[in-house]
Amino acid sequence: MNPLRPLILAAAGNDTIRQAVATLPGGRTLVSRFVAGETTADAVRTVRELAGDGLHATLDYLGEDTHDKDQAEVTVLAYLELLDALHGAGLSDRAEVSVKLSAVGQLLSDRLALDNAWRICAAAEQCGTTLTLDMEDHRTTTGTLDVLEELRHTWPSAGAVLQSYLHRTERDARKLATAGSRVRLCKGAYAEPAEVAFGDGHDVDLSYVRCANALLEGGAYPMFATHDPRLVELVGERARWYGRQPGEFEYQMLYGIRPDEQRRLAEAGHVVRVYVPYGEQWYGYLMRRLAERPANTAFFLHALVSR
Ligand code: FDA
Repeated sequence: MNPLRPLILAAAGNDTIRQAVATLPGGRTLVSRFVAGETTADAVRTVRELAGDGLHATLDYLGEDTHDKDQAEVTVLAYLELLDALHGAGLSDRAEVSVKLSAVGQLLSDRLALDNAWRICAAAEQCGTTLTLDMEDHRTTTGTLDVLEELRHTWPSAGAVLQSYLHRTERDARKLATAGSRVRLCKGAYAEPAEVAFGDGHDVDLSYVRCANALLEGGAYPMFATHDPRLVELVGERARWYGRQPGEFEYQMLYGIRPDEQRRLAEAGHVVRVYVPYGEQWYGYLMRRLAERPANTAFFLHALVSR
């Protein structure tokens, strides 16, 4: 694990550092490595480019933790505009959307978050695609899974994310492992206390494989979100063992991370979906990516001071 991870995650809430990244010489280059751009047009262009490489996308309009109803509405409208633009560009079969409930009002009320997620689901279905609820810190896990359950009564293709670093996740995976249930499985990106999460990377990996088995066994449609070469190999083997063909599960990776591996898997016949963040509020997202890897921290410091 990156020894600077707690420090970088703490900086994710620091506005002075955000300003510095935005204005220092290499800041823009750094952001563009992980973020597709700021506008709907940037997002659509990126989906088209990825589609040209045989890849699918899930789009995240950046922003989280809003306490402001108007800001939540801005986020919903951005998703509606995006879905419309994807449909207009004939790319709906290539892209779905990823939504953070904290960006659409979860901190104000569960009801508002549900209503807003509902509107995005409805628009997604009209455009021939769907939505996945991102998972945030452990205090929101139960609320997010409750919203998912509500959405699925009307929009069964709505998906959610499970994080293998949480002790509870194997249980959640068994509950969500029903036929066709779309579940993205990742390790987890937040700084979580030892009472709720595994601290050791090996334990997180073991949990990941147990959850993958549960999803495959129960007939879910697992979306394996990891760049970890050992896990990519392992879940592929587990999927084969459970008789899954390529297309009956998918791999997911983040925009800008291991792009060659994304293309290699797609060329081998797998569905590979790239998580594409865009929008003006890139800072918290960028900090979580930097915290994941010492090499990224070095890249970050170098980019900030170089032209
Ligand atoms: P790990 O971090 O162990 O990395 C394994 C290897 O992958 C590294 O050795 C390196 O080669 C490469 N790598 C990983 N991260 C890198 C980086 N930032 N830069 C460069 N190389 C890198 N989390 C969450 O809490 N809620 C969510 O909703 C989501 N959603 C989500 C969607 C998708 C599509 C992905 C791929 C990931 C998420 N995540 C997430 C993030 C996830 O929880 C996790 O933090 C990252 O994927 C990193 O974990 P890995 O499984 O890649 O392994």
